[in-house]
Amino acid sequence: MLILGIETSCDETALALVRYHQEGKGEILSEVLSSQIKVHQEYGGVVPEIAAREHMTALPLLLEQVMNEGDVGEEDIDGIAVTSGPGLKGCLLTGICFAKGLSLGWKKPLYGTNHIEGHVLVTLLDNPELTFPHLTLIVSGGHTELQIVKGFGNYECIARTIDDAAGEAFDKSAHLLGFPYPGGAKLAALADAQQRSNFILPKVMREAEGFSFSGLKTAIWQLVNREAKEMNEAKKGEISYAVQEAIIDALIYKLKKAVKETNIQTLSLTGGVAANKALRKAISAIEGTKVFFPKLEHCTDNGAMIAYAAGYRAFKNQRDSFQLEVRPRWPLESLCG
Ligand code: KG4
Ligand code: ZN
Repeated sequence: MLILGIETSCDETALALVRYHQEGKGEILSEVLSSQIKVHQEYGGVVPEIAAREHMTALPLLLEQVMNEGDVGEEDIDGIAVTSGPGLKGCLLTGICFAKGLSLGWKKPLYGTNHIEGHVLVTLLDNPELTFPHLTLIVSGGHTELQIVKGFGNYECIARTIDDAAGEAFDKSAHLLGFPYPGGAKLAALADAQQRSNFILPKVMREAEGFSFSGLKTAIWQLVNREAKEMNEAKKGEISYAVQEAIIDALIYKLKKAVKETNIQTLSLTGGVAANKALRKAISAIEGTKVFFPKLEHCTDNGAMIAYAAGYRAFKNQRDSFQLEVRPRWPLESLCG
């Protein structure tokens, strides 16, 4: 079964062709991506209206490219999968309208994919040996969640963020240090080069039910302000190290607690922040567990995860109608019905 995946939930337009085999095995024929980072950089963050317009321009070009690279024609496609939420309303709408047009024109079934489910399942696409149940930590620019993955379409939420996401905590700290948007990876690179710090940030969210990075954000803001007069590159490195340590500490604390409580030792880490080397090292060091990661290019938003996540539903012929709507808020666990 050949599925075309379309992702436009935020600032990346991404398309992929995935051949889905029974029992969750998938094979990528081609994948293409156009990042809008440069467009949004001068505003210091994603501007939703501009992002939607950029998707509109990129979609037809990327469609042609992904079909050419996959060496397939419309007659080879068995289904069209598109992110229908969560994400930015206007951006989702652009992708959905495009997918509906293709579905109507090509007479192919339409599947609305949950973006978070895409992030979760792409780890299986890249690691077919990953089994159910497993605990997954989703850490992206917009989401921080800990879920039990019991099977395809079967998820139980253990914790999610009540304010900022882990990626936002990285990016906002990077912004305070003067790095261009999205500064998460730059801050991480400085922190990795540093390896020590004289600054100590508070241990946050230990007793709280969910994730919350607002307290840490305030502490970072106060620290940067305090040091602003004598800020230099060395100090930026030290602050970056302290920030990275504090974010990772909060994530690992919650994950360890969940491992203990659920007695599930198989773990996966996904989302943009899953590219973070120190976080990968820390999660790999949790005793008695085995951790799976998506390929680096599948940590951030991509089309393959959207196509692959629609696969198990396509096999059961659970298609969506043309009434398919934008779902800016769409909790993963609600997929269990
Ligand atoms: O999953 P993603 O592409 O977008 C959302 O769905 O939100 O994640 C993007 C996020 C950004 O916040 C970016 O700064 C962060 O992932 N990120 C990193 C690293 N690489 C990307 N954060 C920390 N360390 C990294 N190496
Ligand atoms: Zn994402």
